[in-house]
Amino acid sequence: MLGSSGAVGQELLRLLEERSFPIRELRLLASQRSAGTSQVWKGSMCKVEEVSEASFQDVDIVLASAGGSVSRKWREVIHSAGALMIDNSSAFRMDVDVPLVVPEVNPQAAFKHQGLIANPNCTTILLSLVLGPLAKCVPIKRVIVSTYQSASGAGARAMEELKKHSQEVLNGALPKSEVLPYSLAFNLFLHNSPLQANGYCEEEMKMVNETRKIMDLPNLRFTATCVRVPILRAHSESVNIEFEKSFPVEEARQVLSNSPGLKLIENFETNRFPMPCDVNGRDQVAIGRIRQDISDKNSLELWLCGDQIRKGAALNAIQIAELLVPKL
Ligand SMILES: NC(=O)c1ccc[n+]([C@@H]2O[C@H](COP(=O)([O-])OP(=O)(O)OC[C@H]3O[C@@H](n4cnc5c(N)ncnc54)[C@H](OP(=O)(O)O)[C@@H]3O)[C@@H](O)[C@H]2O)c1
Repeated sequence: MLGSSGAVGQELLRLLEERSFPIRELRLLASQRSAGTSQVWKGSMCKVEEVSEASFQDVDIVLASAGGSVSRKWREVIHSAGALMIDNSSAFRMDVDVPLVVPEVNPQAAFKHQGLIANPNCTTILLSLVLGPLAKCVPIKRVIVSTYQSASGAGARAMEELKKHSQEVLNGALPKSEVLPYSLAFNLFLHNSPLQANGYCEEEMKMVNETRKIMDLPNLRFTATCVRVPILRAHSESVNIEFEKSFPVEEARQVLSNSPGLKLIENFETNRFPMPCDVNGRDQVAIGRIRQDISDKNSLELWLCGDQIRKGAALNAIQIAELLVPKL
């Protein structure tokens, strides 16, 4: 595991144990910073090693979550060692020879790998669990999404910063940001990824391009606005989907209620719909408030919340590995 000390790495460790993933030997790899520290795996302490060329010898699968530049640096070494790399970074997601896989939506893509499979962007994974089953019933014309993304999406240090800043604000102090560009405590801001020439940020364009690739809909009309909110963990999304023809709400609700990875939380009488706290540490993505768009007869509105470190990253990566383990 490359990046074992990070937010995604820690979740990968928990999930490998929880799902009894078949492992003969587990290697925990990180940078010099965490080398020599230990992490608990199945009740025993495991030493974290600094990644080196020798790290990948006799390895079957590398779960990488150490960022794009680290994945780029080690790709060839991992490939030469004959290991399959499942990469959480965005480095290779749009490469034509690299499958981008959400096991509930396009599992068949995983089997076409050439030694590397990319795990999609977290908000994209959560959304595709909804778009995939709906598109099988009625073709989708256009998607408009706004995201409400937690601090954990920016890694373990961003979570610590939000906790620290919240305490500081409550104590009347002015927090100083070191990890995120602005303080998230009692605040929100548009996603901090680099802006593109078209005025969209990188995170928004990842959603556009990756959704098209996963769904195999290269011309899908898609627009996104991504926002960071002062939530520690779990992302939320407000989603508007326009279909080729009308999709009755009750039918869509039935489809989504019976789709893998989703859980309906919906009580219109009590105004109770998914909240980030419903999904913290949970595998399923919560959906609700499925309703007819009053401004367009062929569109539906819905709301979702999902633990993006889990289903949006670690769980999805392990599910990909589980698809392939029998073939390794
Ligand atoms: N957080 C999420 O919700 C999420 C969701 C989907 C995808 N991702 C992607 O997953 C990746 C990791 O995200 P994260 O949130 O887990 O980040 P993180 O909490 O900052 O952890 C980064 C990990 O990478 C290791 N690392 C950093 N530089 C390294 C180097 N030069 N060599 C070896 N290891 C190095 C770190 O080790 P040290 O402890 O030694 O620094 C740490 O284990 C990123 O590409 C991110 O975009 C994250």
